[in-house]
Amino acid sequence: MFFMNYETDQQGALLIGGIAAKDLADQYGTPLYVYDVDKMRANARAFVNTFKDYDIPAQVAYASKAFSSIAMLEVAHQEGLSLDVVSEGELHTALESGFPAEKIHMHGNNKSIQELEMAVENNIGCIVVDNFYEIELLHAILQEQQKEMDVLLRVTPGIEAHTHDYILTGQEDSKFGFDMSSGQAEEAFQKVRDASRINMKGLHCHIGSQIFETSGFEMAARKLFSALNDWSEKYDYQASVLNLGGGFGIQYTEEDQPLDLDQYVHSLIKEVTNLSTYYNYPIPEIWIEPGRAIVGEAGITLYTVGSIKEVPGIRTYVSVDGGMTDNIRPALYQAKYEAVLANKMKERSHQEYAIAGKCCESGDMLIWETELPKVEHKDLLAVFSTGAYGYSMANNYNRFQKPAVVFVENGNHQLVVRRESYQEMTRLDLSYLHREG
Ligand code: LLP
Repeated sequence: MFFMNYETDQQGALLIGGIAAKDLADQYGTPLYVYDVDKMRANARAFVNTFKDYDIPAQVAYASKAFSSIAMLEVAHQEGLSLDVVSEGELHTALESGFPAEKIHMHGNNKSIQELEMAVENNIGCIVVDNFYEIELLHAILQEQQKEMDVLLRVTPGIEAHTHDYILTGQEDSKFGFDMSSGQAEEAFQKVRDASRINMKGLHCHIGSQIFETSGFEMAARKLFSALNDWSEKYDYQASVLNLGGGFGIQYTEEDQPLDLDQYVHSLIKEVTNLSTYYNYPIPEIWIEPGRAIVGEAGITLYTVGSIKEVPGIRTYVSVDGGMTDNIRPALYQAKYEAVLANKMKERSHQEYAIAGKCCESGDMLIWETELPKVEHKDLLAVFSTGAYGYSMANNYNRFQKPAVVFVENGNHQLVVRRESYQEMTRLDLSYLHREG
């Protein structure tokens, strides 16, 4: 089974990065996000080193929406990754972490004036332009600040990747990017090319998330290359960058069979190299934007079991001290997870349970069906592959605190995000009755 990849000690207790999950829970409390930093580094290296092996100029930009925190971005920088941000908040976090501005790319389908101003002021590496309004705004800001900016045009290649509708982004009917089939992308290209302060570096697309096949990426590369070839003939334009986005799938449960990360890179390089020969077009730099594939499997959430309710003949609900506030993915996308009892990994007999969160919502279920050893109050439940879009989508519904985050590496553990306090939760509230002045 999937969780067999994880180590246990002689008593059958779960270890994360060589440290007992129970010790982490005792020291930092639960719910707790724990990241195995070695795993994140290995994932980053699988992408970066494969490009290096081929000696192909590339940038691997970590999509920080998957998990953005100062410590995480420090590790991403150490591993030679660039960074994809989609908001002032993500850009602020990146700059606070000391991430070099020239390696930051900004995305967004509705970037505000403030976001664009902040990007230009801080001289970030690239803006991925998404719509006509943004071209106008950006140009005006560049005029005002007397600067230039490199951009990629985000296009929708009309590809339907096989994934959940909400995380599907490359199809024509999408809020993101310029449509390729109607000539919108070409019109945007002309506008950007004519804008004196905007340097048109190339094209970007992102076909979706949690994708297990290479064919969608290859198809996207073909669509983008064909447009570039047209524009080369028509406008004598040559792109220096081809960004094929993120979306590389990971394993949440046994059903998921992702490729090894380097296989995605092999296939992209092969496709782009073939296209370059076919069109007699110089190979552009290949950029990719993995988020989930870097952090997803490296994260585990630890919970303490509280109440246990049997509905005779139907199911037994095991409630834990977190839920949709720290992992909204099951409620939002019917996402599936696997879990173990971190203190009972050696027990053989298993029963079926449903794992519930503690929010006032019937839909607040982490796992509808899972087999576990006999569950008792205060057991420690570990849910795997929660490193992506867990903390970053955490919320304060029911005024639950956002959990702490701990990094584990080389037998050491370190708190990298403190647990939110109740004072912090009310820090933005102002009294209505006791107004000052
Ligand atoms: N690049 C762009 C332009 C994106 O929109 C995304 C994700 C990525 C890269 C990174 O995709 P990844 O490699 O992480 O799959 N909250 C959802 C996922 C939303 C993804 C949005 N865009 C989830 O929990 O599955």
